Amino acid sequence: MKLTDRLLKIASLVTKGKRVADIGTDHGYIPVYLLNKGHVEFSILADVNKGPLENARGEVRNNKLLDKVDLRLGSGIEVLEVNEVDEVIIAGMGGILISELLEAKTEVAHSVEKLILQPMQAQDELRKYLLNNGYEIIDEVLVKEDFRIYEIIVTKYTGKNTVVEDEIYYEVGRKLIENKDPLLNEFIDKKIFKYKSILNKIDGKTGEGIDKKREESLYIIDKLEKLI
Ligand SMILES: C[S@@+](CC[C@H](N)C(=O)[O-])C[C@H]1O[C@@H](n2cnc3c(N)ncnc32)[C@H](O)[C@@H]1O
Repeated sequence: MKLTDRLLKIASLVTKGKRVADIGTDHGYIPVYLLNKGHVEFSILADVNKGPLENARGEVRNNKLLDKVDLRLGSGIEVLEVNEVDEVIIAGMGGILISELLEAKTEVAHSVEKLILQPMQAQDELRKYLLNNGYEIIDEVLVKEDFRIYEIIVTKYTGKNTVVEDEIYYEVGRKLIENKDPLLNEFIDKKIFKYKSILNKIDGKTGEGIDKKREESLYIIDKLEKLI
């Protein structure tokens, strides 16, 4: 089994020797890869749906790793108890759903050493949730796969909220700028392209909602251009 670049990058953020849970594991590729490499010794694989969990069980069985895992059926981190794992991966879901999963069992979300989150949409909403609910964003990484750029957010609960000096940092994580992520300019260019496409679509049209959209898009394009 060969991991895709997105999954490999997520796996690379797990700390060696830590107990890791993969929530919404589906195929189970990340924990199986980490266990095969000896990077981790124990993993909990969880999914809310039976089909994906059985996929993961098959993958674990084929790799003769059944004695190193626990497979759990259930939603989010509700399947975990405090101190069962050190790090948690939640990848391939929407940013709002990820924040809801963290909120559903805060005693676990608050107690783990690291959360590795890879939202597919609403990344800004997830950053907003994290920074306004006592989480520190420790790191952020971009990874490209099939022309799409994915965002990975590494975070931990500290109890202290973070004030962002500009809302644009919900859209483009501050760590990506601090780290001078190699994909940053391409990532921002794609966003500018998205907002310019919106402007093109509404070109020549008017109306309260449309005018607001135009104003917002122009404002964000200006902010994004200043980040490059
Ligand atoms: C698109 S797949 C992502 C699989 C893998 N994590 C990845 O990044 O490639 C989303 C998985 O999340 C599972 N899922 C959706 N909602 C969930 C929830 N509330 N709790 C746990 N798993 C969930 C789905 O059943 C599915 O297997």
